[in-house]
Amino acid sequence: MRSRTKRDRWRENEDMERVHEPDLAEIAAGASYLRGEWCERVFAQAAPLTLELGCGQGMFAVELARRFPATNVVGVDLKGHRFWRGAKAAHVGGLLNAAFLRARIQWLDHFFAPREVDQVWLTFSDPQHADKRGTKRLTSPHYLWLYQSMLTEGGVVHVKTDSPEFYENTLRDGPLAEMAVEESCDDVHGAPAGRFDAELTDLLAFKTAYEERWIQEGRSIHYVRLRRKVEVCEEQLARAKRMLQGPPGAARPRFTRPAR
Ligand SMILES: C[S@@+](CC[C@H](N)C(=O)[O-])C[C@H]1O[C@@H](n2cnc3c(N)ncnc32)[C@H](O)[C@@H]1O
Repeated sequence: MRSRTKRDRWRENEDMERVHEPDLAEIAAGASYLRGEWCERVFAQAAPLTLELGCGQGMFAVELARRFPATNVVGVDLKGHRFWRGAKAAHVGGLLNAAFLRARIQWLDHFFAPREVDQVWLTFSDPQHADKRGTKRLTSPHYLWLYQSMLTEGGVVHVKTDSPEFYENTLRDGPLAEMAVEESCDDVHGAPAGRFDAELTDLLAFKTAYEERWIQEGRSIHYVRLRRKVEVCEEQLARAKRMLQGPPGAARPRFTRPAR
């Protein structure tokens, strides 16, 4: 049987109930989508919300939904054909607490309201070594301010990475965005037993295909947990959004392909 093309996957995404692919040009023009309404309109339960940002194939998001049925999980990525795999697994497996969203993380505040998100996971994000302005690396202070503005009180950002530079940059930038560095480890799989609580030990042991590849190449896996410390003030949030989204009313990128 021929393997599925991107188009096949986009088409299948359309038929899955909890896959959301809004028009990104409308979002960039100021529209919101399901903001503040995820639990009520998407999921069958009112429960804490966890996001996996840059979820790729989405298999970690699916694992989170499987392990924590009393949590709602949204995998977010710009590439719908990538998260098709996780979306399909959630659909076939009847996981009512897993959803997928095609979005640019820069515009996350158009999808999630203040205090709507309990936890964020960033798994193997692109290290973006050359990103001097902090507009691409997903743990730069601009992004951390944005996430923090959506977190519940005591909400956390988990970061798992194979990149020592991304790890170091995250440890540096967490405090710059007034988040507390609550946990850090530069070799998760080599850590002594009891280093983390049992639930986290189990969760960190789960590896996506992507992580398996890095481990086979001999890389150590790093982990950081940042905790929300402050209510983000409007000026700070506006500055972060200006950096990530451009000034209000600026010309927006045109999308040559419909929202996929
Ligand atoms: C290196 S992959 C990681 C995949 C996955 N987290 C894993 O561990 O298997 C990074 C993913 O982040 C997505 N991504 C990067 N920057 C993004 C952005 N600004 N908005 C949405 N998705 C983004 C890419 O499309 C890609 O699928």
